[in-house]
Amino acid sequence: MSTQGEENPKYVKGTRIFLSEVDQTLGEGKLRIELAKVFEVFGELREVFVPTRSTKAYAFIRFNLPEEAQKALGIVTPHPLFKRLKPAKDIAPRNKKHDKQKQKAVSEFEFYFSAISRSNIVCQVHTSHYERLFGFLEKHAEKVGFSVVGGMAKTKSRTISLVFVQAKKRKSFYGWLNSFWFLQNSVHRIFLVDATITPKTPEESIESSIMDTLSTLDQGSVRLQIFPPRLCSSLLKSIDARWDSFEKRNSVKLLPTNTTNTMGVVQLLTPVPFVHNGLYCSGIWESNLTESKSSSRSRIDTVDNDISRAYWKLEEAFDRYDGSLPTTSKVALDCGAAPGGWTQFLERRLECQTIYSIDPGDLHETVLGLKGVKHWRKTIQNSLPELQKQKSRIDIWVSDMCVKDMEQQVDWLLKALEMDVVGSGTFIVLTLKCIHGHSSSTFDFLVEQQLKRLKPLARDLQVIHLFYNRFSERTIMGYLN
Ligand SMILES: C[S@@+](CC[C@H](N)C(=O)[O-])C[C@H]1O[C@@H](n2cnc3c(N)ncnc32)[C@H](O)[C@@H]1O
Repeated sequence: MSTQGEENPKYVKGTRIFLSEVDQTLGEGKLRIELAKVFEVFGELREVFVPTRSTKAYAFIRFNLPEEAQKALGIVTPHPLFKRLKPAKDIAPRNKKHDKQKQKAVSEFEFYFSAISRSNIVCQVHTSHYERLFGFLEKHAEKVGFSVVGGMAKTKSRTISLVFVQAKKRKSFYGWLNSFWFLQNSVHRIFLVDATITPKTPEESIESSIMDTLSTLDQGSVRLQIFPPRLCSSLLKSIDARWDSFEKRNSVKLLPTNTTNTMGVVQLLTPVPFVHNGLYCSGIWESNLTESKSSSRSRIDTVDNDISRAYWKLEEAFDRYDGSLPTTSKVALDCGAAPGGWTQFLERRLECQTIYSIDPGDLHETVLGLKGVKHWRKTIQNSLPELQKQKSRIDIWVSDMCVKDMEQQVDWLLKALEMDVVGSGTFIVLTLKCIHGHSSSTFDFLVEQQLKRLKPLARDLQVIHLFYNRFSERTIMGYLN
């Protein structure tokens, strides 16, 4: 049967067979597989065509050589799968769409096969964080000692993406990745893989590869981690059915928790009839390698829930800024402060002496009670003249304000600069938000424009797409000159 990588062959006369009254009760996919089984004994199949979404019960089989088709025409009819068969009219294949789809499936297979064969770690990430994780990993790859060899932006699970990594020391890579608390909600799982599996036939199942891997253990308890989750129950069922004949059944157990080993199985591509029978990767490792949680991750629970998301956004921004951060005991201004996560951060982590929390909305009561917090219940435009009058000089200006147009975020900072409320050495953190439905390239362009306005006035500027940012948010940080 044809497999991936073949050229679309020239049509050879006398190689096609027409089948009438095929058994449609099987469904298109299954019928194709069953017909292939019947005809492949006569020679290599070039095509098994079953019309999709058609009420007409016919099919075409195409061989490489006319002699093969001739032999197949000797099948006794009626056959359980069709009533009659005869040579098809000698016309060139018309189904260009089908060929294109096949070619696309072949390229896709080759692409992912090549990437997964070069990797030994698969990170499972939420799709909305895929590009952020990819960028984050690429940035640190060389220094930490790994490379990002590819990824799958959209799996069949839609909301889950995969990033493929090749690390010299997988344990160190895992420890390094786990040390970033802000990845906790983005990277769901890590699979340590060392085998790429491409079943040769639909019948040669992934289960046999799993059993082979399990039999490499002398003893122990194994937890199976399967992606996508919908594969789980069918795989477990068929492994269960084979368990009685498994030679290590008395010394190796499958358990959900407290295991010595974890076995990961990732299905990258589902079978595509007549192109490939699926693409998987797998690996088995000591469970304790991927179970240690760094203490930094437990910090996540220490902040009140309703203000926590914003709090963590600013914490992540500070943790990811590449450069020196402002020291403690400063005067800070939090623009658009309600309900108060950023103000809380400025008080807790930076121990700012005075924090002007500017927002017409309410601050959370726990934030209102914090030392040094002055809640001005008005807009930033109405607050600037008063700050100027007080000759208040702001050392840290943070703004997570929701504004109609993102340039207003920079407008108010520049106005404050003009009024001498901020100046040389003021550390700035601005969230640029796209509240209208722009495409991501338009959004990037708009962010770039704001960056251009700030560049002549600031140093060490960095734009980060934080894991705690929404999809259409970017955080700009730096110091005013
Ligand atoms: C996303 S919330 C900020 C959340 C905040 N960073 C926190 O940690 O809780 C945006 C806030 O911006 C405020 N806002 C919008 N326009 C403003 C303006 N011109 N001046 C001050 N605050 C403004 C809104 O009232 C809203 O409370």
